[in-house]
Amino acid sequence: MTAKGKKLAVLGAGKLGETLISGMLDVGAIARDRIVATAKHSERLEAVKNKYRIAVTTSNRKAVKGASIVLIAVKPQAVQELLEEIRGELTRDQVVISVVASVTTSFLERNLNAPIPVIRAMPNTPCLLRSGMTALCKGVYAEEEQLKEAQRMFDSVGRTLILDEKHMDAVTGLSASGPAFMYIVIESLAEAGVKVGLPRSVATELAAQMTLGSAKMVLETREHPAMLKDIVTTPAGCTIDGILELEEGKLRVTLIKAVVKATQRASELLET
Ligand SMILES: NC(=O)c1ccc[n+]([C@@H]2O[C@H](COP(=O)([O-])OP(=O)(O)OC[C@H]3O[C@@H](n4cnc5c(N)ncnc54)[C@H](OP(=O)(O)O)[C@@H]3O)[C@@H](O)[C@H]2O)c1
Repeated sequence: MTAKGKKLAVLGAGKLGETLISGMLDVGAIARDRIVATAKHSERLEAVKNKYRIAVTTSNRKAVKGASIVLIAVKPQAVQELLEEIRGELTRDQVVISVVASVTTSFLERNLNAPIPVIRAMPNTPCLLRSGMTALCKGVYAEEEQLKEAQRMFDSVGRTLILDEKHMDAVTGLSASGPAFMYIVIESLAEAGVKVGLPRSVATELAAQMTLGSAKMVLETREHPAMLKDIVTTPAGCTIDGILELEEGKLRVTLIKAVVKATQRASELLET
C-alpha cells in the first residue's frame, strides 16, 4: 500500500488529512502524482494544491475513481453523507481507511452498503514529523494482508499498533488527543523555566527536549516509568521536592481524568 504506484484519495484534507499527506510525501511513502485530495471549500483545496503540488477536487466521487486507497479524514458529523456520496463509485478491490474518531468499521460497512474492505485507523498529528502513533483495526471484509498494508503506510510516519476495535476510543483519548495534553505540560514547564529566570526560548527548548528524551527512555529501555523516575530521584535531592508538589497538585489523577473524559467523548462524537 505504500508503493508509489498506488493511487491515494484523501477525502477531507483538513488538519489531519494534510498532516498525513505531508508526512507521507516527506518520507516518499507515496508519489506526489498519485495523490488526490478533497475538501469542502475550494479555497482550502487551493492552499493544499499550492503547498504540496497534488491533484485536488471538491468532488469526492471523482477522487475515489481509480484510487486503490481511500482515506477518509472528515469530521465524524460529515461521514454519513460522504459515504452516501461515494458508495456508488467504490469497488471491492479498493480499501477504505477511516481516521475518523468515533466511527466504527461496522458503521462504515453499513453505510457503504457493499462488501468493501474497511480499515479504521487512529493516528495523531506528530505523524507530520514521522513521530506519530497510529492504532489500526479492520472490518469484516478486509483481509489481514490489507490491514498489514495499511499498517505499513502508517509505519512510514511513526509507530503503529494493531489493536481490537474495542480499544479505539481509548486510543483516541490517549494518543490522538494526547499531543494537546503534552503541549500544555511543555508550555507549563517552559513557564516554570521563565519563573526561575530562564529566557523563554531556552526554557521551551529545555522542556521539549527533556519530554522527548524521557519518552525515548521509556520506549527504548522498556523500563517501567516508575523505575526510570526512581533513578532521577536522589534521596533528599531536589527532584523529590518537585515530585511532592506534583502529588499535592494531583497531576496523576488530573491526567488520568483527562484521558478518561476524552475517551468518553470519543464514543459520542458521531451523535453530536
Ligand atoms: N486533528 C487530530 O489530531 C486528529 C487525530 C486523529 C484523528 N482525527 C480525525 O480526523 C478527522 C479530521 O479532523 P481534523 O482535525 O483534521 O478536522 P478538520 O481540520 O476540520 O478537517 C476536516 C476536513 O474535512 C473537509 N470536509 C468537510 N466536509 C467534507 C466533504 N463532504 N467532503 C470532503 N471534505 C470535507 C473540510 O473541508 P474545508 O476545510 O474545506 O471545510 C476539512 O478540510 C476527524 O474525524 C478526527 O476525528 C483527528
